[in-house]
Amino acid sequence: MQPRNPRVVLLLGVGAGFAVALLAILLGAGIVERRQAADQEARVGRGSELYGAYCQTCHGDSRGIGGQPGVPSHGPEGHTWHHSDRNLTETILNGSSLMAQQMEEELEEMRRQVGDEIVDIMRKQMGLQDGAPRMPAWRGTLADEDIDAVLAYIRTFWTPEQQRAQQQTPMMR
Ligand code: HEC
Repeated sequence: MQPRNPRVVLLLGVGAGFAVALLAILLGAGIVERRQAADQEARVGRGSELYGAYCQTCHGDSRGIGGQPGVPSHGPEGHTWHHSDRNLTETILNGSSLMAQQMEEELEEMRRQVGDEIVDIMRKQMGLQDGAPRMPAWRGTLADEDIDAVLAYIRTFWTPEQQRAQQQTPMMR
């Protein structure tokens, strides 16, 4: 039998220690990842319930089907994904009624200046329909976490490319 070389024993010990530490890190990372995936799934689930309760009657489903005329779809063919999270959150909190109201007023003013025909063409081009519903303000009804959840759900409507592009959209857009 060969005499044990203490340096070899030491090296083996250190190597085993590293292996155990590495395993612990990998397992830990796996647990964190799984927890994050579970959180995300719960958020999307909650968002889906809120969307069904508050948004779907106007906006329709993930492709805008079943919505009301004049209300934009949040699906891949819509343009919701062109806006940043911050911009979308603000629209959801405040609604767009003020902006829409101002636009309606301006169009009515133009009606006096350029006549019905041009304004009617413009309204059609802008997709504005008479009596179409407006986006309500949800401040006070939906908490910040609710809005995060609804957005997490709406994001699942989009293609991976749209999701990536949306995450890189400048905040104010
Ligand atoms: C009464 C109908 C109605 C309901 C209910 C409604 N919306 Fe809207 N929403 C609209 C309309 C109409 C617009 C387009 C802007 C406008 O004309 O006011 C809009 C616009 C938006 C936009 C901006 C889209 C863009 O591309 O700029 C977002 C985001 C949005 N809605 C999210 C929601 C969410 C989330 C809910 C549910 C919590 C919801 N909406 C409920 C009618 C509605």
